[in-house]
Amino acid sequence: MGQRRGSILSLGVPAVMVCLAALLLSSVLIYICLERVYQLDEQLADTHAGCLPQHFKMAAMKNCTPWLRCSQINAEVRKLKLIGKGAVKKVFLSEWKGHKVALSKLASLDYQEDFLHGLSMLQALQGSLVVQLVGFCLEDHSIVTQHHPHGSLLNLEDVLVQPQHQQHNTWQVRLRLAIEYVAILHYLHNSPAGRRVMCDSNSLEKTLSQFLLTNDFHVVVNDLDALPEVNRSTSLLVKCGHRELTGDFVAPEQLWPFRSSGQPFSDGVMPAYDEKTDIWKIPSVTQFLMGRTPETELVHFHLFQIHKQCKEEDPKLRPSALDVLKVYKSVYSTMVQENSAVRDML
Ligand SMILES: Nc1ncnc2c1ncn2[C@@H]1O[C@H](COP(=O)(O)OP(=O)(O)O)[C@@H](O)[C@H]1O
Ligand SMILES: *[C@@H]1O[C@H](CO)[C@@H](O)[C@H](O)[C@H]1NC(C)=O
Ligand SMILES: [Mg+2]
Repeated sequence: MGQRRGSILSLGVPAVMVCLAALLLSSVLIYICLERVYQLDEQLADTHAGCLPQHFKMAAMKNCTPWLRCSQINAEVRKLKLIGKGAVKKVFLSEWKGHKVALSKLASLDYQEDFLHGLSMLQALQGSLVVQLVGFCLEDHSIVTQHHPHGSLLNLEDVLVQPQHQQHNTWQVRLRLAIEYVAILHYLHNSPAGRRVMCDSNSLEKTLSQFLLTNDFHVVVNDLDALPEVNRSTSLLVKCGHRELTGDFVAPEQLWPFRSSGQPFSDGVMPAYDEKTDIWKIPSVTQFLMGRTPETELVHFHLFQIHKQCKEEDPKLRPSALDVLKVYKSVYSTMVQENSAVRDML
């Protein structure tokens, strides 16, 4: 009896292992295949100039060049027209040696601190997901960055309805934009400058205005003026400003908890919070980015579960940006696969 059982086991275990190995191998092969065919990762923001630190290179430039300094900005950058104005900056389309650049000037001395914080973050976080810094001049509060003609993500619909861009108005391009948006949050939450919260995002419009749409339909983050740091090991938490926030775009922990009892808002009493406020906002931003394509509803169906988790009242129960990113990427791959399976059947 004992011997027989032993022999079954000795036959059974290798068979199971062979099966498992085959399964593993085939799924690895399928994965490699999919990666090859759809190359999502290569399509994801590849706008990084690949220069040494403190250098920049724009399209149509042969070499990387050191960031422009005061003297060069004053002598060589020519303002053309005002293209944006927020609380902190006035942004001018400008020209430097035949290249279009964006020149940001401090709009009001009241916001000097935010302006300088934004500049230091721009320097610290340069990379493919962040607008390229071209130069700065502290003395006269100027920042020069690469210009992106499509402007902020607020313009997405207007850009995609233009006849020359209509071929980009697909669920693939739109979901990729959402993937990049979440990849940017993941980057900020795990950045070389620590765990950073995208605070200047109290409404959908405000949030979208902080990101730019590149010519080849990628997303870069542009406005880094309000990126306070969270650190769990030192219990460092943040508050996005000193005023009362309202509405359901912001996370519930950002609302004044004693509103219903009629107690007036007090910044000193208002509890602080962490980067999970950014996670709460993801479904609203993705909803906007997905727009209306024939496949939009199907994408939302696939994202339903993860979006439900993003909307957990308790911030600790919300996923990390990386968790969301993984689901988004897998939904992208699954849908590309389904799409091509349907095409093969027809
Ligand atoms: N590099 C750029 N290319 C194109 N448009 C830009 C650029 N930088 C800023 N803008 C436009 O200016 C607006 C305001 O810029 P932003 O940096 O957010 O200023 P603020 O700090 O005042 O909010 C953006 O929403 C965008 O429309
Ligand atoms: C948190 O703070 C500790 C102590 O200052 C530091 O060593 C660590 O790198 C910080 N973590 C992050 C994510 O910045
Ligand atoms: Mg802004």
